[in-house]
Parts: sequence; structure tokens; C-alpha cells
Amino acid sequence: MCGIIAYAGANEAYPILIDGLRKLEYRGYDSAGIGTVNGAVHLHKRTGKVNDLVSYCEDKNTSGNMGLGHTRWATHGSATNLNAHPHQSQSKRLTMVHNGIIENHQSLKEMLEFHGFEFETETDSEVLVQLVEWYQIRYKLSTREALGRALQDVQGSFAVVLHDTTAKHQLLAVRRQSPLVVGVGDAEYFISSDSMTFDRSSESIIYLEEDVIAQLCYNEAPVFYSLEDQVVDQDLLPFDYKKVAVSKGDFESFTLKEIFEQNLSISRTLDGFENSDVDEITKMLQSTDRIIITACGTSWHSGIVAEYLIEKYAHLNVEVEYASEMRYKSHTLGDRDLVIGISQSGETADTKMALEIAKSKGVKTIAIVNGVDSSIARIADRVIYLKAGIEIGVASTKAFTSQLSAILMLTLLIARTKKSLTIAQVDEMMAELNKLPGYVSETLSSSKQMARRIAYHISDARSALYLGRGISFPIAIEGALKLKEISYIHAEGYPSGEMKHGPIALIEEDLPVVAVVNNDDSAAKIISNIQEVKARKAMVVVIKNKNVELPKGLADHVINVPDVPSYLNPIIQSIPLQLLAYYTAKLKGCNIDQPRNLAKSVTVE
Ligand code: M6R
Repeated sequence: MCGIIAYAGANEAYPILIDGLRKLEYRGYDSAGIGTVNGAVHLHKRTGKVNDLVSYCEDKNTSGNMGLGHTRWATHGSATNLNAHPHQSQSKRLTMVHNGIIENHQSLKEMLEFHGFEFETETDSEVLVQLVEWYQIRYKLSTREALGRALQDVQGSFAVVLHDTTAKHQLLAVRRQSPLVVGVGDAEYFISSDSMTFDRSSESIIYLEEDVIAQLCYNEAPVFYSLEDQVVDQDLLPFDYKKVAVSKGDFESFTLKEIFEQNLSISRTLDGFENSDVDEITKMLQSTDRIIITACGTSWHSGIVAEYLIEKYAHLNVEVEYASEMRYKSHTLGDRDLVIGISQSGETADTKMALEIAKSKGVKTIAIVNGVDSSIARIADRVIYLKAGIEIGVASTKAFTSQLSAILMLTLLIARTKKSLTIAQVDEMMAELNKLPGYVSETLSSSKQMARRIAYHISDARSALYLGRGISFPIAIEGALKLKEISYIHAEGYPSGEMKHGPIALIEEDLPVVAVVNNDDSAAKIISNIQEVKARKAMVVVIKNKNVELPKGLADHVINVPDVPSYLNPIIQSIPLQLLAYYTAKLKGCNIDQPRNLAKSVTVE
């Protein structure tokens, strides 16, 4: 989704903006733009990648010690040079970058047009910058006052950085339901939608509260105002660069690196669990009879795994909802319910909204998130941080297996609290969980070559079917999602028992069918489902534990994973599926870290 970087200081802004835009690339975007300020504002905007913008800027004026940069993921108006940010007001006095959506942009635009404003772009963002100018002119307000007034008219979400050419060294920054942070260096400011764009120059960080306007002038202390122009306080926290610095190391892509570091990320999740709000969470669990999990995409798949685990081992009813559907259901939420939001980024608008709905009904909430200090972490009553480390690849891999690890820990905590397992049983499962990083390393090295080889048989396919049963069903749908996200091959995931109720019509010779076989009581049933597939001459790939025996000739390709207790299988089975998707996408020459149309943090509803 859209990204913002802005700078005000003594250095040349252009290289700082470009470096920031490159770091924001992982979020997904279709155009990029910058405006540097050197008396006048030099605006340059291009569709495509940041590199296209850089080539375009080669012979352009990009001078100035202040500037605004943006990567745009088109929502209102297609991806064109004109629709790219920054946008300017009619007089060109104001320049703005904006993330989020102005929901009432149409009525505001009509009002402005009535007053003689003309628009150059199709975006909702241009409406906002024009609205600020309208307030300036109509009520003779300062830029800051006009911004505050304009934002009181706005419905929707925004993170905004605004520059007024008449206030030479000043940037204004403000947010609502969309992230924006300020890095404070030695007489310089960095403003961004993501603190990972900051380098060592930032010594402190300000997590702007909603509807607080930061006034940032080169060589002056920051001042903060409410939308009604009253001075307010904001905390200045120390910034630890090491926590956000990321590199690919020796890997060809971030995604591959993230797949191969899952032994480490899972270790961190398991170690970090005890440092979460465990005592408070235990208290919450004592008064809980039902859990409702809400999430999107891959995180929703984690929610389904949680449903199987918690119901089996902790004997508590679990419902899993798509966060985007939560508000359209008339849930009877009560005080013995607990709502858990799962999110890698912690910024997904749908999940955030679902948790807010739960909170507004007075229900207890927990967030399982990777994004530290993210919006979702702030909304929930209690937080379980994954500590997986920043995930740059748009397709979630290590965050997913960390979510599953945290869910296993939570399951044991619930089982202990509800006494559904004996202490000896919990200890035994804990001992297995502690072996998990080792099992993951073993799986990574044993399945790599095989996944690579099988990818050759999948890369020409037009579509693929993924099947699983029981706790491996969500892993099958996650495997299908990974394949479609990064290789653009159409893939569907199904509970294998459902195949005969429809999808079997799709099975034809050589269709890749990937079946995930678990070493529990579901094995015999899924094996007979695979037989139905094989009888129709599909190409069968089986992911299974070493100790599971398959009938001769059933599978064309097999990837064996270690013999682990079945509750660890979701994590272990995910690894070959990630590798299969990865190597297939690689053979197809896809941009794996930044698949088309996808965004890392989906901050619009
Ligand atoms: O950051 P979140 O976990 O809340 O994101 C939810 C989905 O947008 C995300 O999982 C998406 O499906 C990824 N592209 C998965 O690879």
C-alpha cells in the first residue's frame, strides 16, 4: 500500500527520499513521486518502480534540503503519472502526500467545484489539499489552522505530510487510522509511514497520536497541535536503528531469506511468548467461554489452525471470522467472549476495524501481531508479539509460522488455565515445542531440492488444486494462496473431503494436485481422496511425514517431512509448500518480493 517519506534538515533531501522510497517498495505500489523544496517545489512523478523515477529525475532539478516522497497503490483513479503523489493545491502553494482514503471526497469535491476549484487528477488526495487551500483563502487561516479545519470535515483514514511554499523550512504531519511516525535527528526530521525507512540519523521517534498535527521546522523543536489548534504533548522515544535495519544478506530475495530463517524467527516467538502479557491474558482466559478470531489472508489461515488446536486441546469453542466480514454479522458478543485479532503488519484496516467493533461492545481483546507499536497492537487490551523480525517479502512466510508457534503457546496456556490437559501433558507438548526450531531446520534442508525439482512440473500449469484434512486443511489453503500470490498460477485449496462435492469436476490429466497428509486419524481418509484424484490422471504431489506409508504408485512426487507430533505439522508442512511456490515463481521469472497488485500492509478497508 501507499508509503510516505519526507525530510526537513540541512542535507540534500533527494537521496534521503529515494532511499526511503526504496525501503518502502516492499509494501506494494504502482507509481512513485517526489517533491523537493528549494524556494520552489520541484515535482517529479512516474508510474512503475522507484528506479523509473530515478532515471526520469536524472536530468531534472531535484535540489533542496526539504522534500516529500510517496509510493502510490492506486485506489481512486488508475496508476498514471498525474495521479501519483505529491499533489498540489490550485495555486500550487500547497504540496501534499497522502496515504489512506477520504471517504467523503465526492461531496467535498462538489463543494470545492461550486466555489471555482478545478481538479487535475482523479484522486481523493487532491481533494484534501484543495480543501486546505479553500479554508486558507475563505477564512484567512494559517496553513496549520486550515489543515486542522479541513481534517474535521474529512471522513476516512489519512496520513498526510503538507508543505506550504510560504513557510520555507516547515512540514506539517498528521494521521488518522493510518500510520505515520517522525524520526528526530540532529536538527533534522524524517517523517514516514514506516520507521524502517529511518537510518542511524534518527535518534528519537515520535509515534504521532491520531489527529495531532506535528509542526516540524528545520533547526527548531517540534510543536504539536490538536485539530482545533491547541498545543498538545507527544512522547519522544529513543529510536533503535538496529531493530529496524534489514538486508537480504547472501540471499537472492527477501522472501527466500525469510523462508530460510524460520528456525530463528520461531525460536524468537517461542522465547518471547513468556514476556507477553501472560498474567493478564491468563486472567482474561479465566472468564472466557468462547473465542472469536478475526484476521485476513494468511493470518486468517492461522486463525483456522488455532480453531483446530484450541478446540482439541483446550476444549473451548472458537469461531474464525474474516475481519472484512465481521462488521456485517450481528454477533451477539458478550462478556464471556474473547476476540483475538491476528495480523502480521498490525496495520490491516479490516482487522483493526473488527477489533474496534469488539471493543465498542465491551468485549476483551488480544492482538497477535508482528508489527511492534502497530495500530492493532495499540487497540487491543493485550498483545502477543511474534518477534519474527521485519518481514519484507509481500507474501507472508516467517510471520505465518511464527503466528502458528504463538498460537501453539496460547493453546497450552488456555489448556493449563482451563485444566483441559494435565500438567504432564502440557510439559510433554512444551518439550516438543522446544524442539520445533530443530525440526524446521531439518525440514528446510531436506525439502529444498525436492521442492525445486517439483516446481519444474508445476510452472507451466494454468491452475493447481491443494487438498488437506483436519489441521492440514488450513495449510493446504495457505499453500494455494502462496502459489497464486507469487507465481500467478490459479490455485484453490480445499478440505479433501469436499472435493467430491464439486472441485472434482476440475480434475483432468496432469493437473497438479498437492495433497498435505497428516500423521493422525485423517491420514487414511485423505489417502483415499488422493486415490480419486489419481484415478483421473492428475499429477499428484504429496507432502507427508516420513512415517506415513502411501500406497504404491499413488503419488508422482513426494516430499517427506520429519515425524513430528501432529500439532506441529501445520508449521512443518508449510515449509515445503512455501518452497514449492517460491521455486515455481522463480522459474516463471516473477518478482517474488513484490508480486503485482499486492500490498504488504493493506491499510484500506
Ligand atoms: O498484515 P496482516 O497479517 O494483517 O495481513 C493480512 C493479509 O493481507 C496478508 O496475510 C496477505 O494475505 C499476505 N499477502 C499473505 O501472504
